[in-house]
Amino acid sequence: MKRRTFLSGALSAAAASLFARPVLAQQRGHAMSGMADMGAMMHAQAPLAAPDALPAGAPLAMLRTLANESREAGHFRATLIARPVARPLLAGQPATTFWQYDAGDADDASDKANGAGPVIGPLIDVREGDTVEIRFVNRLPQPSTIHWHGLPVPPDQDGNPMNLVAPGAERVYRFTLPEGSAGTYWYHPHPHMLSSEQVFRGLAGPIIVRAANDPLAAWPERHVFVSDLKLAADGTIPANGMMDWMNGREGQFVLVNGAREPRIEVVRDERWRVWNGCNARYVQLAFDDGRAFALVGTDGGLLAAPREGVTSLLLAPGERAELIVRAGQGASSARLIAAQYDRRKMAMSHGSLPPAPSIALAQVRFAPQGEAPALPAQLRPIAPLLPRGAAVAALAQKSVVFSEAMDMHAMHQPGASRSGMPHGMQFMINGETYDPERITFTSRRGEVEHWTIANRTDMDHPFHLHGTQFQVIARETGTTTGTTTGTTTGTTTGTTGATRVDEPYLAWRDTVNVKPGESVHIATVQHAAGERMFHCHILEHEDLGMMGTLRVI
Ligand code: C2O
Ligand code: CU
Ligand code: CU
Repeated sequence: MKRRTFLSGALSAAAASLFARPVLAQQRGHAMSGMADMGAMMHAQAPLAAPDALPAGAPLAMLRTLANESREAGHFRATLIARPVARPLLAGQPATTFWQYDAGDADDASDKANGAGPVIGPLIDVREGDTVEIRFVNRLPQPSTIHWHGLPVPPDQDGNPMNLVAPGAERVYRFTLPEGSAGTYWYHPHPHMLSSEQVFRGLAGPIIVRAANDPLAAWPERHVFVSDLKLAADGTIPANGMMDWMNGREGQFVLVNGAREPRIEVVRDERWRVWNGCNARYVQLAFDDGRAFALVGTDGGLLAAPREGVTSLLLAPGERAELIVRAGQGASSARLIAAQYDRRKMAMSHGSLPPAPSIALAQVRFAPQGEAPALPAQLRPIAPLLPRGAAVAALAQKSVVFSEAMDMHAMHQPGASRSGMPHGMQFMINGETYDPERITFTSRRGEVEHWTIANRTDMDHPFHLHGTQFQVIARETGTTTGTTTGTTTGTTTGTTGATRVDEPYLAWRDTVNVKPGESVHIATVQHAAGERMFHCHILEHEDLGMMGTLRVI
């Protein structure tokens, strides 16, 4: 497929490049009437606050922890309220209204205090085996849900888009965390067509599930929750514009625990849990002096063994990782950065946008004190879902294909926009946008399946599946077929020019990036009957319908 050209700074040029796409050429006739609306969507964006308008360099804020209201052993009970909170942010401008999660006993007055940015939802810190009961109170002007991203909770407790909680209403989510679920998760809203807005206004929070026999329990823990904020110069959080919907929204601010470029002091080797809670920003995590760290865990918890010598780690939106960051020998300092990564965002004139330059996430000072403990050589066993050498072809197969199209006619129907959403901009799974009435796939519980996720668009999309953790088997490029007949022993298959790279290590994931032209092979199994979502975790694409429903029977 030819690389798209799309949207220009000038409306007429925008129209020209939009219509230059062959598929749209026939529609030139009736598209013009809507151009005024589209011009408004592209140009009505308020000027943004300067990239240094928020203060930098404060000590890293600790995440708030959600207090357990239950006295019963093995029980965690609390209330989360989603509500608008105004906080003065920019000098001389009205307070910025965020939407945030607060504990049930939160004091409204305390929120009037000055803040450096949004307040991340309180950390839910629980243990394997716990029964968790969260009362969710929706004080937003929109319906919402809470989705427990990555956790194996029952389908009807997972905040699916069909289980909306109306404004002013509440519900209780209840689930028990199984053995083996220790890991780093998060929670965020999941109402269809509103997830992007609710997250970019501030609704997201971390979850940690701990194992009784955690091999890294002795390491001091650091929480690095990355989010992203687009802020107008007048202190408001602007709605998505056309480019936000198309490429996914990225703010001019990348924040860690709600603040710009906080200061971190590392005096001994630390275990870092890192969340990419951004709507669309890819975080190519690195230190600017190239120093290495160890990767010890992914979305669903620890690896079998540490992977030493990692200097850069890509976290697509929604992904998490656990790292060991070493204090090193002698005092030093470095910036933690989101290094340049080209996710092939679409340009306003021709081809792709250049990748965004690297952005500082935090200023880290290393001041080692005392002996560093040795990292265990083994962390925990990970059983392959697909035993080595097993025939992939014998498994139940699912094929997910990401594609995109522009329907100018639909885009310019009167009323086609809701919250500024261009309905004619289609991001699809297997040729269709999300329909709550449609079941995309059916799976049997307990049955290991082989899924192939093929990206036939021109930009990266992070694939996410609810309700389970999966294992990546291989990544294939240069193919146009979405299936493979290979085994897990490392054969190269497919059409000419295809390269298939077996995943070098076992890891539990719920989100995996898929590059343009790439097919990612995963092994996955669901354990509870009901409906599960799978989608692109660029939340604008999810809202535009790059989502499907898996029925588990
Ligand atoms: Cu984190 Cu369905 O999402
Ligand atoms: Cu999820
Ligand atoms: Cu996407």
